[in-house]
Amino acid sequence: MLAIRTLEPRDAKAMLDYFERNREHLKPWIPTLPIGFYTVDFHSYRLEQYVQSEKANEEFRFGVFDQSRLVANINLTAIEYGAFLNGRLGYSVDGDYAGQGIATEYVNYVCDFAFGNLHLHRLEANVMPRNVASRRVMEKCGFEIVGRSPQMVRIAGVWEDHDMFARVRD
Ligand SMILES: CC(C)(COP(=O)(O)OP(=O)(O)OC[C@H]1O[C@@H](n2cnc3c(N)ncnc32)[C@H](O)[C@@H]1OP(=O)(O)O)[C@@H](O)C(=O)NCCC(=O)NCCS
Repeated sequence: MLAIRTLEPRDAKAMLDYFERNREHLKPWIPTLPIGFYTVDFHSYRLEQYVQSEKANEEFRFGVFDQSRLVANINLTAIEYGAFLNGRLGYSVDGDYAGQGIATEYVNYVCDFAFGNLHLHRLEANVMPRNVASRRVMEKCGFEIVGRSPQMVRIAGVWEDHDMFARVRD
């Protein structure tokens, strides 16, 4: 049985294991990783920072666990309050667990959290045109395409176009 919760500093080793296991699976889809990324220290430091950001309601990083194994990351970042009430989603699922509906279920969970607990009005996510699986997740979670952002994110050393998807609170 899977369980979702926000990530904590004690998850540093699980994070490292996740990214090491999924190095090739994630490489075509995620931004170029910083030097030192594949160390426990890197993740301990980063997870400590996440705790602070979470306390300030600036961003929330969720992990989906199968027992002690981290099998998915769902991030809610770039939260803007005031007249925007907007946040940005990012997500990935362990290659061994792909195609089981995990991204769909837990993206929906984080949407419910963002709309229900944080009272955000709009969520967005940016997906590469060729990322068929992620586009399908967006569709299944009720996101609609807004438009194309040329050369938006640097992935594997290339500035890649992304399509912005958005979902507005019901
Ligand atoms: C994108 C990703 C998060 C999807 O996770 P997942 O748990 O497998 O997603 P789900 O099982 O909820 O849904 C995937 C959907 O895509 C479909 N799909 C997967 N690969 C596909 C392909 N090559 N062509 C067509 N459809 C595909 C699945 O059939 C499923 O749709 P269905 O339920 O209608 O059958 C996962 O593949 C991943 O981690 N990719 C690498 C990182 C990434 O791309 N993150 C998103 C960046 S925007």
